[in-house]
Amino acid sequence: MEHELRRIQDEALAALASVADQSGLERFRQTYLGRSGRLAALMAELPNQPAADRPRLGRLANQAKAGLQRAFGDRRRALTEPPQVFDPTLPGEKPERGHLHPLTQFTRRMVEIWRSLGYDIHEGPELELDWYNFAGLNIPRDHPSRDIQDTFYIKDHPDLVLRTHSSTVQLRALKHRPPPLKFVEIGRVYRHEATDASHESMFTQCDGVALGRDLTMAHLVTTLRTFFQLLFGPRVKIRVRPSYFPFVEPGIEMDMKWSVAGKTVWLEMLGAGMIHPNVIKAMKLDAKRWRGFAWGMGVDRLMMLHYGIPDVRLSYSGDLEFLKQF
Ligand code: DAH
Repeated sequence: MEHELRRIQDEALAALASVADQSGLERFRQTYLGRSGRLAALMAELPNQPAADRPRLGRLANQAKAGLQRAFGDRRRALTEPPQVFDPTLPGEKPERGHLHPLTQFTRRMVEIWRSLGYDIHEGPELELDWYNFAGLNIPRDHPSRDIQDTFYIKDHPDLVLRTHSSTVQLRALKHRPPPLKFVEIGRVYRHEATDASHESMFTQCDGVALGRDLTMAHLVTTLRTFFQLLFGPRVKIRVRPSYFPFVEPGIEMDMKWSVAGKTVWLEMLGAGMIHPNVIKAMKLDAKRWRGFAWGMGVDRLMMLHYGIPDVRLSYSGDLEFLKQF
């Protein structure tokens, strides 16, 4: 009987492999697995076997049946499930691509606007000589912004600092070309301060300078108003307040009217003024012949307004969940 069992099994598996359709499947089921099929007929022989062999033969017969049923199920699935075909009309999976950081995108937008207003773009080093960051800008030795609390100094190099503002460009750019001229610098600056949602110890500033024979405060205000209108739209409102910076005289601060969630506030946007005669002299120019204006604005603050970003720390975090939104 054992021999016969193996023969049925072999035959059944061979037959199953050549089954090609539903009716073939049904024929197979009846022939081998059905109530009057070959396996059932063999199992009916079991009571005629020697009693000592019956349990083992019974187990073998059951195993053979289970095996054939499994093979039958597999074959049926293979015949009824649609084959996996390649459909060239389906949309492909898009590979993920990187893109420019929002601050870079925004900086490029600002550069475009300043270029359209006739400004050149300059760059200066972030590790800067004291003279460009402080002394040449009329910031005296005992000025509070030189305090170790605000400025990152370089160990063993007392004349080097991480620039605390991008106003350094005023003295550097003059080395390349004589006036009249107009240029901006957009770059990173560093301050030793506690960080919160609107303060980082590294941030980005945009300083601008115009030098000519007869520039006035009216040119300064009009230039900056035009910039904000090109950036945020023609309805932008600005206001000017007197202020103090050692490198300008007179100095001003400029605020922009901003409405968000039904509330209107004046946001401080920048410091500016008419370039101080001492700074004109530091540029090695005749302070009687040349006049100019300058400003310095926080780029991160502008970018946050432009995109509605609530926390400046996100900007430098490298957080992909944040970056993928731009
Ligand atoms: N450097 C100043 C700051 O970081 C901003 C500033 C004010 C820049 C007046 C200027 C200026 O060029 O004329 O707060």
